[in-house]
Amino acid sequence: MQNKGDSRQYYTKITTHVLQEMKLKGEKIAMLTAYDYSMAKILDGAGIDMVLVGDSASNVMAGHTTTLPITLDEMIYHASSVMRAVKRALVVVDLPFGTYQGNSIEALHSAIRIMKESGANAIKIEGGEEVIGSVKRILSAGIPVMGHLGLTPQSIHKFGTYVVRATENAEAEKLVKDARLLEQAGCFGLVLEKIPAKLGTQVTKEIKIPTIGIGAGNGVDGQVLVLHDMLGITMKFSPRFLRRYHNLSEEIKGSVNTYIDDVKSSDFPNEREQY
Ligand code: KIV
Repeated sequence: MQNKGDSRQYYTKITTHVLQEMKLKGEKIAMLTAYDYSMAKILDGAGIDMVLVGDSASNVMAGHTTTLPITLDEMIYHASSVMRAVKRALVVVDLPFGTYQGNSIEALHSAIRIMKESGANAIKIEGGEEVIGSVKRILSAGIPVMGHLGLTPQSIHKFGTYVVRATENAEAEKLVKDARLLEQAGCFGLVLEKIPAKLGTQVTKEIKIPTIGIGAGNGVDGQVLVLHDMLGITMKFSPRFLRRYHNLSEEIKGSVNTYIDDVKSSDFPNEREQY
């Protein structure tokens, strides 16, 4: 494996400029989701480059089956909790479904609320050409914007399925065109979700801003995973791109079982654990 540097040794604060520098150096960018203070503190302490307060909170925190129900107020709540913990990583917050598709003024107001009320560093928005007016207006207010192409979960009812996107020429060509449009508009980065690895590599070579993949292969500039999936807290979701680094749900269940046993047998609390 080629080592092109390790941001943990060089940067005390990750900014959009640092991400650009990392792309130029060929150093991979590591991003994970977080939705609360305690997890965000652990990720930041471990040296993660970017934290995404994703609208996947709708699934993993609230138990909805899609990302659509989460509200702007709920996203701001999650983002504020994360911001109280993070000192070094760049924090990006998803604009939730229904808060930017109407028109670019609505999009700007939603982005401003996130930035003002949570203190986040940037916002992320799903889509290409169809949202470019909103992207430009948000950028014109000085708010850094990250794009998101490929499988865009807020459009799940249009897609009808979570299968890999852009396997056909027409969709792949549109994706490349959208990536260029988002770059030209001034986005600082791009998430590429569930697309063929070859296309991920092509987009990464064709644009100068960093690409962060989730199921987009190894030729992109960085990777993002949903924290609860990679830690094995959520077990039902098992796409090919997901590497599980832990089996936390089993570990937590084991600890809870032991606790229940200890309480029921009156083993807990013992003499040292009481006043
Ligand atoms: O909401 C989210 O977690 C995301 C990632 C899947 C990229 O958008």
